[in-house]
Amino acid sequence: MQYQFLESDELYTRVKTLTVVAKQTAASVQKQAKKTEKLIGEIEKPINVPPLPAGFKVDVPNFDVTNRLNKLPRSWELPQELYKKHLPKYNVGTIYRIQELLNAGEGYIGQTVTVAGWARTVRDQKNLCFIELNDGTSFGGLQIVVEDKLTNFEQVAKTNTGFSLKVTGNIVKSPAKGQLIEMLVADPTKHEVVIIGQADPEEYPMAKGVQKPETLRQKAHLRPRGNFFSAVTRIRNNLAYATHVFFQNNGCLYIHTPIITGSDCEGAGEMFRISTIFDNDIKKIPQINGKVDTVQDFFKKEVNLTVSGQLQVENFCISMSNVYTFGPTFRAEKAHTHRHLAEFWMIEPEFAFADLFDNMEAAEGYVKFCINYILQNNMDDLQFLDKRVKPGLIDYLKDIVSKDFVRCSYTQGIDILLKAQKAGAKFENSDIKWGMDLNSEHERFIAEKVFQRPVFLYDYPKEIKAFYMKVTEDGKCVRAMDMLIPQVGELIGGSQREERYDVLAERIKECGLKLEDYGPYMDLRRYGTVPHCGFGLGFERLVMMVTGVENIRDVIPFPRYHGSAEF
Ligand code: 4AD
Ligand code: MG
Repeated sequence: MQYQFLESDELYTRVKTLTVVAKQTAASVQKQAKKTEKLIGEIEKPINVPPLPAGFKVDVPNFDVTNRLNKLPRSWELPQELYKKHLPKYNVGTIYRIQELLNAGEGYIGQTVTVAGWARTVRDQKNLCFIELNDGTSFGGLQIVVEDKLTNFEQVAKTNTGFSLKVTGNIVKSPAKGQLIEMLVADPTKHEVVIIGQADPEEYPMAKGVQKPETLRQKAHLRPRGNFFSAVTRIRNNLAYATHVFFQNNGCLYIHTPIITGSDCEGAGEMFRISTIFDNDIKKIPQINGKVDTVQDFFKKEVNLTVSGQLQVENFCISMSNVYTFGPTFRAEKAHTHRHLAEFWMIEPEFAFADLFDNMEAAEGYVKFCINYILQNNMDDLQFLDKRVKPGLIDYLKDIVSKDFVRCSYTQGIDILLKAQKAGAKFENSDIKWGMDLNSEHERFIAEKVFQRPVFLYDYPKEIKAFYMKVTEDGKCVRAMDMLIPQVGELIGGSQREERYDVLAERIKECGLKLEDYGPYMDLRRYGTVPHCGFGLGFERLVMMVTGVENIRDVIPFPRYHGSAEF
């Protein structure tokens, strides 16, 4: 059992309801009950990370660097000026971004400017009307004070949450607490409030104050209008930007790897098939010997949506040195967990003339850069999330960037788990032995409880890892690494790649794959092979870590998961 989160959302409620109904009228709802059973089977239990047994202590393992490929440790630290994002000034034409006005301090006082956005709140106080306008550019909105001298004052006073407005007024010092400036709309000859779009307060789904993330998920098209999802979206945007800043400034080329592919990189077979020959009328599907005749399909063979851009990005690594890809990734996993999606985004760098040590340094540098970037550029959003979503979030993030990540081999990890078990730690999966695939409870115990910081677990048994990973000298392990984060679990999976032709050919066969399917990949080992390594970071998991949001469905604009592709 790899996935153990309880899904406390609509699916769970649906299952519970269906179960009750099914029990009440056995015969008539038998069909329904069958469906229910199936759904229950898909829901995972919550993860319990056992507490550290009293007095249990483990020293940080020594990291043996004697066989390091590159002798000089290189730093992935970037110059300080790259940590601060340059703020864009204008939105469209002469409309000002509210972020720009708020950020300028007293810089715009006395100037007449135009803003546009959506009313968050409207308070009508007889001869004055107060509107908090938000255009999504910053957490805070602009307070607008409209005086009754305005010709359309009566209509303005009747506006409500969700109305779209374009407002021209004078920026003045605000007498109110907690804001430096506000906009005064008082001169009918120069100022105006244009009501662009209405929103009936009785019906507008975002008018209802604070709503739970699972409720907002049902309104994915409108949820960026609220504080929660707009904060997540701004952080997500800056994490994507920080990703490019980091890799570009470390000399990596951005490679666009294909979305349609015939290869299954991870060999797990969890792929979405794409085809133009499928038809609701089965008789119309070209068949041969009882099977679909794929030769008649669009690409004249079976193709799928990519599960990883790694195999293709390696092609460019073995010709252009350091590269990365950042794109959508698809996995047909029926996992109903807090951290799995069927469509997610992955960042996959690949480094030439580099080994697992270099890989870990790059991964640590990248994750720390991303966290620091958000601490520098999204403090308002973080403060809101710290207050409303995950208390202690800012301290948690500062703690992660302040410590060296631990490097602990899989074998040492198993030893730690066995010792902890002996000392009284109760794991749900208690059958701990070398060779097993670790569960989330084990991974999180090591990162969260034992070392209390991110941990690289490396050198895994080859039986539980993909075919492309470099085999260790003793032939038992592969040079794989997973980055495990406290309270999040696996954020990164990566490895040094097997660059020796014969060893790789052997591994492909061992894994039950066909060598002829990997012609181009083998060519990279046949012509000018080099040691190289890379990793994949699940972008939504990074957003989860940085925002403190617990469910992956609440950090992607339109989540796709088993049984749901709404919007
Ligand atoms: O560990 P994974 O499967 O590694 C690879 O795909 C390698 N080809 C990467 C490489 O070396 N270039 O996936 C990498 C990361 C995971 O650590 C996790 O963060 C994320 O991708 N991930 C998912 N995120 C959301 N939903 C899913 N279903 C995910 N599966 C993996
Ligand atoms: Mg993995």
